[in-house]
Amino acid sequence: MKGLVCAGGEATRLGELTRVTNKHLLPVGSWPMVYYPLQLLQLAGIREVLLVTGKGHAGQMIDLLGDGHLTVRGGEAPLLELDLTYKVQTQPGGIAEVVGMAEDFAGGEPIVVVLGDNIFEYSHAAAIAAWGDGGVGAQVFVKDVPDPENFGVVVYDDAGNVTDLSEKAGVVDLRYPAPPSNDAVVGLYCYPTDVFSVISSLERSSRGELEITDVNRAYAERGELSVVPVVGWWEDAGKHWQHLAEIGRMIDETGVNK
Ligand code: G1P
Repeated sequence: MKGLVCAGGEATRLGELTRVTNKHLLPVGSWPMVYYPLQLLQLAGIREVLLVTGKGHAGQMIDLLGDGHLTVRGGEAPLLELDLTYKVQTQPGGIAEVVGMAEDFAGGEPIVVVLGDNIFEYSHAAAIAAWGDGGVGAQVFVKDVPDPENFGVVVYDDAGNVTDLSEKAGVVDLRYPAPPSNDAVVGLYCYPTDVFSVISSLERSSRGELEITDVNRAYAERGELSVVPVVGWWEDAGKHWQHLAEIGRMIDETGVNK
């Protein structure tokens, strides 16, 4: 398996904090945000990771992460031991477009994708490994949230079968006036090798992007989407500046990527 961290975007929701700096370099607890998704991939046993970022920030990202081998500052203890590759997204075009950029990098292997601002109490390494050991199709993770309008959600029938997925219902996915469920798809996705042909057949959404939710729907329509509940807390750290400090406190209290 290979890994992909999506670390682009303008991060306008974070206001003054991201005029110059990439959101994924902002502090969350004692680390820059992007360390957490990288650590998650490492804990899943992945070594080769592609990091995609925007044009204005690639230099800072490389300054920080280098080739992916980091020791703690001023010490010898390993912090990250990855084989890191970079790609630059020159225009924002959606998460699925970023995944599509990883086709050559994936080189015919399955790929685990983490959004650079998603932070998890548990790394879900066992669930990722189980999928890697012969899972059919794609695997996504879900969390019940009070604000499903901000996310992609999974729709189920009465028997609990996945019938659909909807991205920011009423805003991006105009088929639904309001979110059809509260089960948000979080930013951790496991895709088999055919994901790139799925992406090449996608059409742009109402906001002009290639939506990761449309990729997941393609697998659901084939009966090849596994939906796994997130264990512990999960946070999208890109929502609001106050949230950065709150997540830092949670990490202090409970630990992270356990
Ligand atoms: C993205 C995805 C959405 C997903 C969310 C998880 O939204 O489009 O489907 O639920 O990440 O954090 P964004 O954070 O880009 O608004």
